[in-house]
Order: sequence, then structure tokens, then C-alpha cells
Amino acid sequence: MPHKLLILEGDGIGPEIMAEARKVLEVLRRDLGLALEVEQGLIGGAAYDATGSPLPEQTLRLAREADALLLGAVGGSQYEHLPRELRPERGLLGLRSELGLFSNLRPAILYPQLAAASTLRPAVVSGLDLMIVRELTGGIYFGQPRGIRTLSTGEREGYNTLVYRESEIERIARSALDIAMKRDRRLCSVDKANVLEVSELWREVMTSVAQDYPQVQLSHMYVDNAAMQLVRAPKQFDVVVTANMFGDILSDAAAMLTGSIGMLPSASLDGAGKGMYEPIHGSAPDIAGRSRANPLAMILSLAMLLRYTLDQADLAARLERSVGAVLDAGWRTQDILSQRAREASTVQMGDAVVAALRST
Ligand code: IPM
Ligand code: MG
Repeated sequence: MPHKLLILEGDGIGPEIMAEARKVLEVLRRDLGLALEVEQGLIGGAAYDATGSPLPEQTLRLAREADALLLGAVGGSQYEHLPRELRPERGLLGLRSELGLFSNLRPAILYPQLAAASTLRPAVVSGLDLMIVRELTGGIYFGQPRGIRTLSTGEREGYNTLVYRESEIERIARSALDIAMKRDRRLCSVDKANVLEVSELWREVMTSVAQDYPQVQLSHMYVDNAAMQLVRAPKQFDVVVTANMFGDILSDAAAMLTGSIGMLPSASLDGAGKGMYEPIHGSAPDIAGRSRANPLAMILSLAMLLRYTLDQADLAARLERSVGAVLDAGWRTQDILSQRAREASTVQMGDAVVAALRST
């Protein structure tokens, strides 16, 4: 039985970058023998516009049936006035939580061809290859109780809850340790154990699970220091594991080390290999509809899908090499543009990857 893929374009630049990923998918299926059944669903603002919900029942059903999901981006300023439960982001958070996609892999790799695009000196970032493993279905993003209440004084108070159970910490620890085993075997767990009890438990469980992985060198770092170290000397890290909100923040910083957030893919996995794959960047409404967006993070998300859910490491590597070849040839979308580059539209970049994929 072929695997089932659900495509969710979403909002803003989502449909444009997905169009390029679809071209790549076509080549993989038609020319390179990838067997895959493809469905399409609505998510985010687009889903709200069509059905009144950012995560319609139909999409959830298709998502449950699928082995993998490929998602563009969600969000847009036209939805900001909506009650929280109807906002596009809820669609994304709902999928993560309904599907139990607790392990979020966010690689930050600096392509040597793009060293000049980083705001940091080449010596600091060249050769950068780190992986952030972010816990994705727990922590303060989902903790109860939460809300805004009115105190007896009449003043309003907003509150959220940061909680982690041992079992939640243990499974993300194993996920990160497994990944460290396939890399340089160094894992840095980032927390705020000098202030938070949750982090104290996090540190304890990390340390104890790591005893099952004697070859992995485990270290711990406070999140404020980690933020500083990421921009001071990012190459000291191999794999970083951290809680949901810390990971949200640190992964944006890590992405920017590589020159553009438009280059970085991500995978969100459950315990059984099912995954949702999406670029780290958002829906970029400011450039939507103008063929200016960089489709490479979207295309590289497809490469992660090949590797982690479909077990097609060779095809994944081939697709990643094609992206490298396109950069070698000098093609650049505006976000990574430097001197002597060939400025490409979203469509041209996608076409260049397709051509490279056919000829590698
Ligand atoms: C991310 C995004 C999301 C998050 C938003 C869109 C809800 O910033 O994937 O990093 O905060 O997790
Ligand atoms: Mg984020």
C-alpha cells in the first residue's frame, strides 16, 4: 500500500511555495518511482474562510488517515481580530496536539554558498549544522488552566500554566538522544532550572534517560545563556533539546544564523514515524502573491518527509543535493540575494530545483 500524504497549503505565501513543492513531488512520483497517494485539505485562515473553522473536521479526518502531512504556512493580519479559538494558528496547534506530534526537529544548516547572507561573520557561522529538538505538544502552549480573569479589584489578569509530566519529558529526551546518536553524539538540554520547578524535573529526567545512552555527551544550559551562546558561538552545539516555548524562540534565532529563515524546514513527529513537515517561516503576508517567497524551506521539508516518514534517505539526499546545485548555480530569491547572484522568483527557483533533480 502506498503511503498517504496530505497537503495543506494554508495562507499567505503557503499556496505559492506549495506549488513548487508539488512540482518536485511530481518528478519524484513520475520519474523517480516514489509511490504516494496525495490528498489535499484546508487549514488556517483559508479553512476558516471556507468553513468557519481553522481546523475543519474533514481536515482532521484526512490528517488522521495520512502517514505524512506537508504544510505551507498559516496566519494573516485579517484574522487577528478573531477570537483565539478561530485564529489560523489554532489550526496548526490543533493538528500538532490531535496527532500527538510531540517531537519537533528544526535543523539549522548554513549552506556554504550562503555564508555571506548571514548577519554574523562567516568565521562564526560557516559550517554550522545544528539541530533543535523542540517539545511540541506540552508545556505552556497547552497547559491548563489558562485564560484572562477579572480580579475582585476589577483589574484583569492573564494566566497560563507551564506543566510537564515525567512521561512527556522522557519521550522527548529519547527522541533527542536518538537523533544525537545519528549525529555528533552531543546533546545540550536547555532549561530554566535556576528558577522553574518544571525545569528542575526536566533536568532530572533528562539526566536519568541519558544514562541509557552512554555514548551521548549530555550537557545542560540555562535558556538565557543558550540564547547568547547561539549568537556568540553557535558551532559549539550539535543537538539542542528544549521545551515548547523556549524552542519556539531559540529556533527563530538559530534560523537567522543561516542567513534566511526562508531556507529551513522542520519535521514534527509522533512516536511511530508519522509526521507533519513544514517550513519554519510563517505565512509572510507582506510578500504573498508576488512570487517573491523562497520555496526552498518548503522543498527541503519535503526532503525531510522522504527521510523521516517514507524511509527514502537516498531520494532525500538527492533532493537536498539538487537544492545545493541550484545555489551553486547562483540562483537566489530576494531573501538570500547577494552580489553577483541571479535573482529568481518563487517559480524560477522551483523550476531550477526540478531541473537539477532531473539531472542529478
Ligand atoms: C512556530 C510558530 C507557531 C508556534 C505559531 C504560528 C503558533 O511560531 O511553528 O514556531 O509558536 O509554535
Ligand atoms: Mg515560532
